[in-house]
Amino acid sequence: MAKKKYYFEDPVARGLIQSLGTKKARRNMSYFIGNMTFFGDKIIKDQFRTLLNVLSNKKRAFIVTGKHTITLCGPVEKVLKRAKFEYKIWNNIEPVLPIENIKKGVEALNEFDADLIIAVGGGSVLDIAKGIWILFERPDLDLYDVQPLVPINLHKVKFVAIPTSSGSGSEATTATVLTDTSFTPPRKVSIISMETIPHVTILETSMVQTMPPKLVKGSGFDALSHATNAYISHWCTPYTEAFALKAIKLIFEYFERSYIDPEDLDAKYYMHIASNMAAFATSNSAPALDHAFAHTMELIFKTHHGLGCGIFIPYCLQYVAKTSDRYLDLAKDLGIQASSNEEYLDKLVKKYQELMRKLDTPLTIKDWGIDEKEFKEKLELLAETAFNDGASWFSPRPDYDLEACKKIFEYTYDGKKIDF
Ligand SMILES: [Fe+2]
Repeated sequence: MAKKKYYFEDPVARGLIQSLGTKKARRNMSYFIGNMTFFGDKIIKDQFRTLLNVLSNKKRAFIVTGKHTITLCGPVEKVLKRAKFEYKIWNNIEPVLPIENIKKGVEALNEFDADLIIAVGGGSVLDIAKGIWILFERPDLDLYDVQPLVPINLHKVKFVAIPTSSGSGSEATTATVLTDTSFTPPRKVSIISMETIPHVTILETSMVQTMPPKLVKGSGFDALSHATNAYISHWCTPYTEAFALKAIKLIFEYFERSYIDPEDLDAKYYMHIASNMAAFATSNSAPALDHAFAHTMELIFKTHHGLGCGIFIPYCLQYVAKTSDRYLDLAKDLGIQASSNEEYLDKLVKKYQELMRKLDTPLTIKDWGIDEKEFKEKLELLAETAFNDGASWFSPRPDYDLEACKKIFEYTYDGKKIDF
């Protein structure tokens, strides 16, 4: 039997989406999807407790968490016990999120029969929990069938997201990002449905306090990429721009503090909010072009998602700036002063790279430690994988093609200024 295809493997759909990503698309975006969001301290103890009976009739909760984040579930368990809920913790998550893993989660949820899913973890955990949610309610579907504008009618389960990192944004987006290992090399697939935004998000500051510095750094750049690309996309609206810009400003203000000092709860609070605002922005704009490159590096060189996003931001900014003036608005909104468009762009790129330097982040693929010989051998594969990544479809630059992907990789390897 021929392998089923995702909506984004259809060249007609790609052409359509790519044309919608261009400047002509401005003012065509007509919605802003959000959810109920709580943020701060003692949210789980206080507000969540009062919500529980509204969220579940059966008084049964299925907690999805990771191998490490299970240690953070204590406050949730405490509240469930106090509310006299039955609950089951499922943390059988495999590192690269193959779709098969979701089926095991669905079996466990079927066995336990809950009407409330509580996902406690980083982006991977939240995404796998969303996958479980979809297939638990719609066992007749497979994930290939889930498409952005087609209703899937989820109504049996309420979903609560409690992120334990400040970056992935899965708690606020309509996307479920998974790895499909049936491709060679495996592919990152973004399943998008307006129905898979969690019903409730809890941004509890203490949940991100124990993130190791490496995760603070990676997830922070992931958030910065979401916000920046949401802003420069032609799909950006006044709603998304407000969220994206505030997120970018908060990240520039608090990222370094959050990275240096785990005890700096102010910085953790604002970075957690910034990450969530960036997620609203990206979910209501278009996916990030630098995500296509970061996904590719993850799959081929096993690099960190967020860090990769950060490294590619300056290059993608320059690439998109050749055909779009959104970078000018961003530079001006960030208080940059210059006397020419070129100077605005240079100063904007420099601002991002200065932040990267402060956070000991490589500015090039070479400094990231990727062997040059291996990189060159894999260049064609890298370009092809990035070009086929769903995130690249929404490129704000209309002439984006395989050749451009190759050049962006080459220029990012050496740290060259984009001149094409
Ligand atoms: Fe991301």
